[in-house]
Amino acid sequence: MHISKEKILLNLKSRMFSRQIHLFEEVSSTQDILRTLIVSGSPEGTLVISKTQTQGRGRLEREWVSPEGGLWFSTALIPPFGPEAAPQITLLAAFSIVQAVSDIVGLSASIKWPNDIFINGKKVAGIIGEMSSHQVAIKYITLGIGINVNILLKNLPPCATSLSCETQREIPLEELLSSFLNHLDDNYSTLKASKDLTPFMNNIRKLLLYKNETVEISTAQGMMQGTILDIHTDGRLIMKIGDESRMISSGEISA
Ligand code: BTN
Repeated sequence: MHISKEKILLNLKSRMFSRQIHLFEEVSSTQDILRTLIVSGSPEGTLVISKTQTQGRGRLEREWVSPEGGLWFSTALIPPFGPEAAPQITLLAAFSIVQAVSDIVGLSASIKWPNDIFINGKKVAGIIGEMSSHQVAIKYITLGIGINVNILLKNLPPCATSLSCETQREIPLEELLSSFLNHLDDNYSTLKASKDLTPFMNNIRKLLLYKNETVEISTAQGMMQGTILDIHTDGRLIMKIGDESRMISSGEISA
């Protein structure tokens, strides 16, 4: 199956994401191609999309399995914020995926903090944000997004699912992508005006997986157990650990 630029543009309202769309049959990682483009002067919103990846990567240096039928792409944002705002950008992308999946597929997805998308207890999409910063300013963030769209379970890692498996039908990749980009553009404008996640909190809270549940979280300080209480407007996770309420800025939850 071929991803068509014409079909993407058909539903793409966002000007920012229409500027440069680079489509490939196979790349090592869309993150690497995008970084080269941005460093050589491509604008914010540049998109790199590939049918397959040979070295797709996830967070924490994990491999990201990227067969044909998925949506594997990267885009660059240049938010007028300091590096500490990076988690807000990835959460915004997570929220935009949930919106697009609801619009195009009709499924309710959840956000597993910090940036995984789950449906029916299984991971369906992931986001990686790689940042280049200069002192107090972000130079650019390359947002890499992988959505398991039309992929058979046997071609996915254990504990993962795809949108086609959950719905028993084929999902139009281009419509899902355009919907995501339209939502991300709107949400990004709102975030730039509000400077934190306040306008999104009601929605993001409702989508938060394991809220009020006891989980284990592995952080730079080690493994901890606690209850997930909320997300802060700066993107940090608020957990009750022992008798204390703690803000977690990065970590990996296991339920
Ligand atoms: C994660 O869940 O750990 C993040 C997965 C991100 C995968 C996407 S696929 C497109 C882009 N290119 C990559 O190499 N990774 C991201």
